[in-house]
Amino acid sequence: MTNLHIVEDQKRAAAEAALEYIKPGMKLGLGTGSTAEHFVRALSIRVQAGLKIVAVATSERTAELARELGIEVAELGAVRHLDLTIDGADEIGPGLNLIKGGGGALLREKIVASASDRMIVIADGAKVVETLGRFPLPVEIVPFAYSITMERIAEAVARSGCAQNLMHLRGGEGHAFKTDGGNYIADCSAQTIPDPERLARALEGIPGVVDHGLFISLASLALVGTQSGVKVIELARR
Ligand code: 5RP
Repeated sequence: MTNLHIVEDQKRAAAEAALEYIKPGMKLGLGTGSTAEHFVRALSIRVQAGLKIVAVATSERTAELARELGIEVAELGAVRHLDLTIDGADEIGPGLNLIKGGGGALLREKIVASASDRMIVIADGAKVVETLGRFPLPVEIVPFAYSITMERIAEAVARSGCAQNLMHLRGGEGHAFKTDGGNYIADCSAQTIPDPERLARALEGIPGVVDHGLFISLASLALVGTQSGVKVIELARR
């Protein structure tokens, strides 16, 4: 079995383990990315067997997949409040603080997670880290004067004690990737983020930054696929 297959199996196992937390009648947030897609597929089998839930998607891509598979998808503005969101992550650090946004959906993912009573993260084992930052931190920025915004982000990252602050416009100049909201993503390679709260606050103060991929105190449980089964990491209830 190749490494790619092992990782995919871990993602699928974590996604399937999340089904245990789904109850009839729940309003559910559906994440974005390959692990979240495994969850949507597993959930759709339950829905086809009669489970009644209403879902809100964190991206157009997830909404399309869910609808194709027969899951009812509603707008968050209409549903307003969710019982549970199941989503993937790029890194899971101490305290279940996360880096998200590798798939470019961080803004909707954060809005949906923060409208939920509970967020459960599903991931393969390689996503668990001792210190956040090896995965480049995605920061969603408005296209207007994006190069100035990126310089300010680099300064904020340096001031927040990170090991480095290499910036990259996702997609590159002239081909910039656009989010579902029509914004750009600046990926910041920080290597280590010793104080995620401090960096989050610094980024939130920069005009032109729409949001960032640091998810602080949003997740309360992680289901992590490993070679010896799905590991549950749970925070004390807040
Ligand atoms: C998308 C995300 C994803 O959850 C993250 O990128 C993990 O993706 P995958 O499950 O494909 O490894 O934050 O914006």
